[in-house]
Amino acid sequence: MLNFIYHNPVKIVFGKGSISELTNLVPKNSKILMTYGGGSIKKNGVYEQVKNALKNFNVIEFGGIEPNPKYETLMKAVETCKKENIDFLLSVGGGSVLDGTKFIAVAAKYENGDPWDILTKDVEIKDAIPLGDVLTLPATGSEMNMWAVISRESTKEKLSFGHPLVYPKFSILDPETTFSLSEWQTANGIVDAFVHIVEQYMTYPVNAEVQDRFAEALMTILIQEGPKALKNPNDYDIRANIMWTATQALNGNIGCGVPQDWATHSIGHELTAFYGLDHARTLAIVLPGVLKHQKSNKEAKLKQYAKRIWNYEGKDAADKAIEFTEQFFRSLGMKTKLKENGIGTEKFDEIAERFEKRGQMLGEHQNIGKKEVKEILHLCLE
Ligand code: NZQ
Ligand code: ZN
Repeated sequence: MLNFIYHNPVKIVFGKGSISELTNLVPKNSKILMTYGGGSIKKNGVYEQVKNALKNFNVIEFGGIEPNPKYETLMKAVETCKKENIDFLLSVGGGSVLDGTKFIAVAAKYENGDPWDILTKDVEIKDAIPLGDVLTLPATGSEMNMWAVISRESTKEKLSFGHPLVYPKFSILDPETTFSLSEWQTANGIVDAFVHIVEQYMTYPVNAEVQDRFAEALMTILIQEGPKALKNPNDYDIRANIMWTATQALNGNIGCGVPQDWATHSIGHELTAFYGLDHARTLAIVLPGVLKHQKSNKEAKLKQYAKRIWNYEGKDAADKAIEFTEQFFRSLGMKTKLKENGIGTEKFDEIAERFEKRGQMLGEHQNIGKKEVKEILHLCLE
């Protein structure tokens, strides 16, 4: 196992009716900006629950944060924060609203120039408005991590930043809020969480038994409970298990002390930036390509995964592991090829060059650069 420091300061309040806890969690006398998305919270009763819990607080609202939250939109919220002297941010919605809120938190306090630099340069972040959240979509793990992914419409970029100051002070996870998720969004969440686990697991063995067995347990739960959630959207226990799994998948737990490979996410973000594909939909396409391309480097872990997750042993276990994974995605209604999504080779060069320009090498061996990104994209074509 590699050396690590493990620290996670996020307070989780989980379960039915937990939104009412906001009354005790939000700092008294604070001026709150409540952020939300395109309106799902107004249809499923979450908005009323939040407003009710905060009826004695000073709350201003900022709605309209879109999936793959846009810098252009978020900067409007930054203006509101400055004008209104906001001192607490409350995100109510999915990962996009929460990521957007993390960016608002830092950008509102950033005084060294254009806040876009937070995503493109190694700038110093000194301050942030504290934030909390009510999560309505299990997928990203953003509720228990310090990461955010932000898109910029004008340049077709999608980039991430992370800083301890944007760990939520608390995250409220009420599985009942997820009953209203469509099959499409439910599947997105399952695939996103699954790929987070794979990217912290499918590298090479370092005898990290706790992390490996924990990751395998989480993958097994998604494989077993995922299809059930599509059939029984209002089953509390199924939704609860998926919600807690997605949080555990990216809160630092299974990733500490092990090599990681975020190539699938990095390439996937470019597909969203250029084509607007949903985050999880890009992962279902790219992961099989990355695994095929890196099969020999990942062989030991692919075989372990084939045996422990898919109950398959044999010479072709590495290939079978990739095949089973793709079948799992397809069973959730995902397309796993670029061409099925109407995408051809037209942007391959531009995507690959972006990594070179940023000086970004991908994979646990840092062996995936411009040339390899293009090869991977070709493997994702059809
Ligand atoms: O905008 P509203 O109206 O709220 O509707 C949303 C949105 O259209 C809807 N939705 C959310 N909760 C709902 C609901 N609809 C019905 N009932 C509910 N309970 O779902 C749609 C998608 O929401 P979004 O927040 O975009 O989805 P998700 O949570 O998957 O977030 C995706 C974003 O997170 C980033 C992705 O790149 C993407 O931008 N990621 C963030 C990470 C992190 N911070 O650690 C890691 C991830 O790998 C990921 O990259
Ligand atoms: Zn993801």
